[in-house]
Amino acid sequence: MGDTHGAFRSSAGSTDQVNGQRTGGEPISPLPSRAGHRPVEVSPTGPGPVRSRRRRPMIVGIGGTTRADSITHRALATVLATMAQAGAETVLFGSAELDLPMYAPERPERCAAALRLLAAVEQSDAVVIATPGYHGGMSGLVKNALDYLEDLRGAPRPYLDGRAVGLIVCAQGAQAAGTTLSALRSSVHALRGWPTPLGVTFNTEGPLFDAHGRLIDPVAAAGLETLADQIMGFTYAWSQVI
Ligand SMILES: Cc1cc2nc3c(=O)[nH]c(=O)nc-3n(C[C@H](O)[C@H](O)[C@H](O)COP(=O)(O)O)c2cc1C
Repeated sequence: MGDTHGAFRSSAGSTDQVNGQRTGGEPISPLPSRAGHRPVEVSPTGPGPVRSRRRRPMIVGIGGTTRADSITHRALATVLATMAQAGAETVLFGSAELDLPMYAPERPERCAAALRLLAAVEQSDAVVIATPGYHGGMSGLVKNALDYLEDLRGAPRPYLDGRAVGLIVCAQGAQAAGTTLSALRSSVHALRGWPTPLGVTFNTEGPLFDAHGRLIDPVAAAGLETLADQIMGFTYAWSQVI
């Protein structure tokens, strides 16, 4: 993923946007530039084959639990698979990959697993975070992973800046699901991410997946489909204007 974020924007209107003008001649303010951002390449002969100049968005999934049949992990894998089918490149950091030392800001050394997580998030166009509700909040595993994102404070796109962030919470009751989702949204805001309008909550009391790991609850399936649509939609829309 050596490409920059702007590489999969369409060229439609971009000449005028770079010059601070709309196609209709209406003057507009120049859009803010972003550090480390390549200038937009504009075809002199018109819009051209827009699709062929788009790269695949890279979407990182973070979450799950240590349980072998973790519903949180399955939900995360399901929504990433949906987005992969829609053309995204996806990578999932589950409990094994997130088995990291407690984040220590004062210690500069980082293990290889932490560096892999940080590199993937830095290169990502969007993120999905899936956590169980543990005592009314996100799990320590997931929170520790988010704490590591502090190391991205000096990145060209700090933390989760400019990324749609889909959120999934699995709990055994509506109350913990709601409080956990709310807390997770606050953390994503603090990390400069854009939580999608829909946050998906699963009540794990009932059967959601079959023995083969297929999602069998139609309401849950519809929620993950909508989440995937919102993440992909935001990612493409954002790439057109920033
Ligand atoms: C330490 C711990 C704390 C939990 N706290 C709550 C809670 O406060 N409210 C709730 O509804 N469920 C709670 N649960 C249940 C989990 O949210 C639920 O089992 C969830 O589905 C676990 O996800 P998993 O299937 O991915 O492991 C807790 C489970 C554990 C292990």
